[in-house]
Amino acid sequence: MDKAAIILAAGAGTRMKSTLPKVLHKVAGLPMLGHVIKALRGAGVTRIVVVTAPAGEQVRAYAVSEGCETAIQDQQLGTGHAAASAKAALAGFDGTLVIVNGDMPMITPQVVNGVLDAQRRTGLALLACNFSSPTQYGRILMTPDGFLNRIVEFKDASESERAISLCNGGCYAADAQKFFLWASRLKNDNAQSEYYLTDVPQVAKSAGIKCALAFAEEEDVMGVNSRAELAEAEGVMQKRLRARLLVDGVGMTAPETVFLSHDTQIGADTTIEPFVVFGPKVTVAGGAVIRSHSHLEGAAVASGAIIGPYARLRPGADVGAGAHVGNFVELKNTRLGDGAKVNHLTYLGDAVVGAKANIGAGTITCNYDGFGKYKTEIGAGAFIGSDTALVAPVRIGDGAITAAGSVITQDVEADALAIARGQQVVKPGWAAAFREAKKSEKK
Ligand code: UD1
Ligand code: MG
Repeated sequence: MDKAAIILAAGAGTRMKSTLPKVLHKVAGLPMLGHVIKALRGAGVTRIVVVTAPAGEQVRAYAVSEGCETAIQDQQLGTGHAAASAKAALAGFDGTLVIVNGDMPMITPQVVNGVLDAQRRTGLALLACNFSSPTQYGRILMTPDGFLNRIVEFKDASESERAISLCNGGCYAADAQKFFLWASRLKNDNAQSEYYLTDVPQVAKSAGIKCALAFAEEEDVMGVNSRAELAEAEGVMQKRLRARLLVDGVGMTAPETVFLSHDTQIGADTTIEPFVVFGPKVTVAGGAVIRSHSHLEGAAVASGAIIGPYARLRPGADVGAGAHVGNFVELKNTRLGDGAKVNHLTYLGDAVVGAKANIGAGTITCNYDGFGKYKTEIGAGAFIGSDTALVAPVRIGDGAITAAGSVITQDVEADALAIARGQQVVKPGWAAAFREAKKSEKK
């Protein structure tokens, strides 16, 4: 059976107090909307319509970039109204429809599948969760025979209803055509004068369809409405990502201090020391060591490499097998050959470094003149003396040496020595004579 989904992402997100639309706020480096899309696709949903506000240009652009369709909710009249706004986009679709809030980044394919399974039982299903402290979630009132009676929004709930811990998790599944019929019958006679999606089960009930429940863990259904909840979701997501790496054989002595991205890939037997941050698009092969206080994004690290402590790998950093990148070293768009070493206080940008080259402390590639970026090539086995400035474009041949403190502006052929610094002059006794002269001046 064909499966489509509607993601609700047109809300004002007022509680975030942000100019960025709520669903584009990131969790583990991926917009919340991206997490929801990932979970739906993982559950085999092929068509996804993202409902956006008229001003939601950024949300539409993101949705389209992720292969989704979009619909516009012309006024923000509530979640039921938002879901109904996708009707035209799904005209003619008569498979199963999943409707999900765009602000629940922790949802997984398993959770979506649970809702789909429950939907097969009665024709309509809702994701539910027993919360230890349910805050502002909608409360679920049950019928004696174990089906959903109705959902009461927190703002509409009485004291005794607020004491209920079973809550609406914000994901629904129904036959598409029936769903749009039910949604068209919603009323807005409630505390917020909104068309609540949560009233759909009651409309369905009057049409003889019961609503089944699919249960999930608290952390899987977390809805993010504020900065505090976003931070909480981030914490839960980090725990989830770390746990997965530990299971996969990655060593971490203090996993709670390691921050991962949704897409971080690390091979077995790599060790991550405390306080390492992974931005998006990092792959580390097995058997590498990432030492404390390193920051990596858009980088690839091969097996046996040692990074840090205090190293920064920026996008395009590609560290070869067994290479070393030491403290206060920054690599950007740079390929470091197998076994090469760049151990101290260095910036390499737009560079290609051959195997087993040694880059001395304080080496800088001068790769940018304020307009363009230029390439530095360093051959295999080359030895770059400390404090060399490599003014790109420039090429150092295999096995060549540059003298410490050189400003290299011209290519250096293989196995040559390049010295480009002032000649040293030594004046014996000069310092002592200088001091004597200054002392007698003072008297
Ligand atoms: C909603 C549910 C609540 C549930 C909770 C789970 C309703 C009425 N309430 O509450 O029962 O426990 O989610 O997290 O559905 N949106 C629109 N257009 C609108 C309003 C909202 O697209 O006019 C979108 C938002 O962008 C958001 C989603 O719908 O992604 C949910 O809206 P939100 O305001 O976060 O609802 P909650 O108060 O969290
Ligand atoms: Mg919400």
